[in-house]
Amino acid sequence: MTETIDLLLKRRSVSPVALTGPGPSAPELETLLTIASRVPDHGKLAPWRFIVFEGAAREKASGIIVARYREKNPDAPAEVVEAERMRFLRAPLIIGVVSTAAPHPKIPEWEQVLSAGAVCMNVLIGAKAMGYAGSWLSNWLSYDAQILAAFGLKPHEKIAGFIHLGRAASVPEDRPRPDLAAIVTRFA
Ligand SMILES: Cc1cc2nc3c(=O)[nH]c(=O)nc-3n(C[C@H](O)[C@H](O)[C@H](O)COP(=O)(O)O)c2cc1C
Repeated sequence: MTETIDLLLKRRSVSPVALTGPGPSAPELETLLTIASRVPDHGKLAPWRFIVFEGAAREKASGIIVARYREKNPDAPAEVVEAERMRFLRAPLIIGVVSTAAPHPKIPEWEQVLSAGAVCMNVLIGAKAMGYAGSWLSNWLSYDAQILAAFGLKPHEKIAGFIHLGRAASVPEDRPRPDLAAIVTRFA
């Protein structure tokens, strides 16, 4: 109990540049995806799915990202293109969380989208509890229709997040957190 509270009070995102291998093993990934899909989900629609980027498949994703980046930014300097090439090559494992939210007669689409956010957070917390670190990122590629199609998303699907996971080579200082007095009111 105290351990869980401590984890939640201290957890920090760790950027892909500070992540190293090894990533979660196959059974750990299975557990992580099980945790990820155990979230509040109004109507039991499971309005999300996962795309796992691991090992050499990350190179293929990287190629897609670079090709599209070059197409959109033909004059980009080599170091910027290199940063794009590295985007999916730093963390040993990236879990793409796809929101499959769609109009439904009873369950508002907004609630389906929120459920995908809960999935992303469960991945981060579950990974931390297993001794891994990571961050929940979107970046421009999450909003590029051609990249999404190349990653296998259907036109109505959206990326809720790419969760980059690995071992933390370093953990950043904490960042300022919201002042509760500014965000909490008591209904009276
Ligand atoms: C949906 C979503 C997308 C995000 N995308 C990015 C991103 O593309 N780049 C980035 O630097 N941070 C992004 N962030 C922020 C980081 O995940 C994270 O909130 C920040 O680094 C501090 O995290 P911490 O409070 O967990 O330590 C995103 C957060 C969310 C919720």
